[in-house]
Amino acid sequence: KDDLVILGIETSCDDTAAAVVRGNGEILSQVVSSQADLLVKYGGVAPLFAEEAHSQVIDQVVQEALNKASLTECDLSAVAVTIGPGLGLCLRVGVQKAHKIAGSFNLPIIGIHHMEAHALVARLVERELQFPFVTLLISGGHNLLILAHGLGHYIQLGTTLDDAIGEAYDKTAKWLGLDMRKSGGPAIEELAREGDADSVKFSIPMRQHKDCNFSYAGLKTQVRLAIESRNINAEIPISSASFQDRVSRADIAASFQRVAVLHIEEKCGRAIEWALKLEPSIKYLVVSGGVASNQYVRDRLDQVVKKNGLQLVCPPRSLCTDNGVMVAWTGIEHFRVGRYDPPPPVNESEHFV
Ligand code: KG4
Ligand code: ZN
Repeated sequence: KDDLVILGIETSCDDTAAAVVRGNGEILSQVVSSQADLLVKYGGVAPLFAEEAHSQVIDQVVQEALNKASLTECDLSAVAVTIGPGLGLCLRVGVQKAHKIAGSFNLPIIGIHHMEAHALVARLVERELQFPFVTLLISGGHNLLILAHGLGHYIQLGTTLDDAIGEAYDKTAKWLGLDMRKSGGPAIEELAREGDADSVKFSIPMRQHKDCNFSYAGLKTQVRLAIESRNINAEIPISSASFQDRVSRADIAASFQRVAVLHIEEKCGRAIEWALKLEPSIKYLVVSGGVASNQYVRDRLDQVVKKNGLQLVCPPRSLCTDNGVMVAWTGIEHFRVGRYDPPPPVNESEHFV
């Protein structure tokens, strides 16, 4: 079935993304339009404005993906689209577009779980990657440790009890007055390189809990208190801060990152232990989601994985953050085993709520 060609559409948060991928894993095109101006203006994702921004660019993003692949809708085998989790208003823009194309061109439609797509794109990148494997999914809204037994067959080993690590990165960046154009994570990663990671003593969350769950709300509070006690004013952008002020901000960024990632290292180590007891044949830990594009995170998790005799699979940065390729690829995996819906009636998208 390598002659499959699937269009993937992703609009669950603030990126409008589309891509065309072949059954053999060849990426024919990949387009992402992000809402950097809105992120700066509202200091985060504002659903109503995000929905409007998706609506404005969705047609253009999909058309560009088809053009770059030198294809038209008639060449497609199916359309895959993220149906959740995410912001309802935003998801709807992608789903409506997918229905419109599928209805007009008589194509099957495949509804995709955003987090499954983050995990499975690793199988496009690393063709040796067979089930079962362990996966850590770290993004703005989720912190998940999963034992993936097979397609659609997942056991949750751990999740966050409150905030996800990406949310902690984003708030820390906002409170430190960093440039939010690229979202908080990359800004913290960059500033942390200048700082002393041992200078601020944050405590590691949930050490007494011998499970695989996460919590970042407490660390966020610790960071906020440290920022307040050093009189750092987020209204003053870091580019205008004094030398001493910049050093303080960098120290907090580095110390936050060290502890945020130590928490992941500890829980990941335990998840691998648990998973190996259930499935001794496991060889891989897959790490994906926006935060997995962080080099410090990758390096530290590589150590954890090596200690346990496994191999780390981490997709390239552009496939870790939200993208259409992961949706198209997961569509291919589902299509191959017959998991898709028939083409919707032509006018269904108009009635779709
Ligand atoms: O997967 P993703 O693109 O969207 C969601 O599904 O949430 O993840 C976005 C999250 C944001 O919180 C962003 O700050 C974080 O990923 N992120 C990073 C980095 N790049 C993106 N966090 C840390 N370091 C990075 N380099
Ligand atoms: Zn995501």
